[in-house]
Amino acid sequence: MGKILTRKANNKRNKMQIREAMEADLNGVLLIERLAFGYDKEADLVRNLLYDSSAKPLYSLLAFNAGKAVGHILFTSARLEGTQNDASISLLAPLAVLPDFQKQGVGGKLIESGLQHLTNAGVDLVFVLGHPGYYPRYGFKPAGAQGFEAPYPIPEEHANAWMVQELWQGVIGSVSGKVKCADMLNKPEHWRE
Ligand SMILES: CC(C)(COP(=O)(O)OP(=O)(O)OC[C@H]1O[C@@H](n2cnc3c(N)ncnc32)[C@H](O)[C@@H]1OP(=O)(O)O)[C@@H](O)C(=O)NCCC(=O)NCCS
Repeated sequence: MGKILTRKANNKRNKMQIREAMEADLNGVLLIERLAFGYDKEADLVRNLLYDSSAKPLYSLLAFNAGKAVGHILFTSARLEGTQNDASISLLAPLAVLPDFQKQGVGGKLIESGLQHLTNAGVDLVFVLGHPGYYPRYGFKPAGAQGFEAPYPIPEEHANAWMVQELWQGVIGSVSGKVKCADMLNKPEHWRE
């Protein structure tokens, strides 16, 4: 659906390793989510999404530092309602890095690696509800202004937290509509920023 966007490798972060999470990694993934957020909600969400057929295809990536799993990111499948198009859509949620390993580029590397993975898989658009001071560093921009409605209304004061990124040039502007996310994410408590 257009021209592929190129991604630059960041040499400073080359020591870190990223790979897809496997079933045997589940406890490690859930521990990272619990420790990063400080409560169970995101760990429970991840466990539910991993078994949610409406979330597939999904991409669950783990970051390792010296063999230790220190960060996790999950992208789940979504779709656009109300438009006649075949845009392939993914939703980033959640992203978690162990407290002792934050601010060392782990989160950024997980995002970049995930976006590359999704680009290779032919995904057109990636959405996230998150910190508007963080995700724009990795190419995300406010989604509402581009014609994309969140699954649940985002309060006006947090409108910039609902963000989108195109992985192929020209997708934004050619499609619009309301995002329908995976069933386990499709609950109001997951859409309060
Ligand atoms: C948010 C999080 C994933 C970032 O991971 P990380 O590995 O620390 O991020 P990076 O090292 O790639 O980037 C660090 C930079 O992002 C900034 N940053 C981190 N969290 C931020 C936030 N909430 N808002 C704005 N900037 C933020 C840091 O200040 C740092 O800035 P600097 O480079 O100018 O020093 C991590 O802090 C975390 O797991 N937090 C708890 C869970 C969470 O809030 N997840 C995100 C849900 S949307």
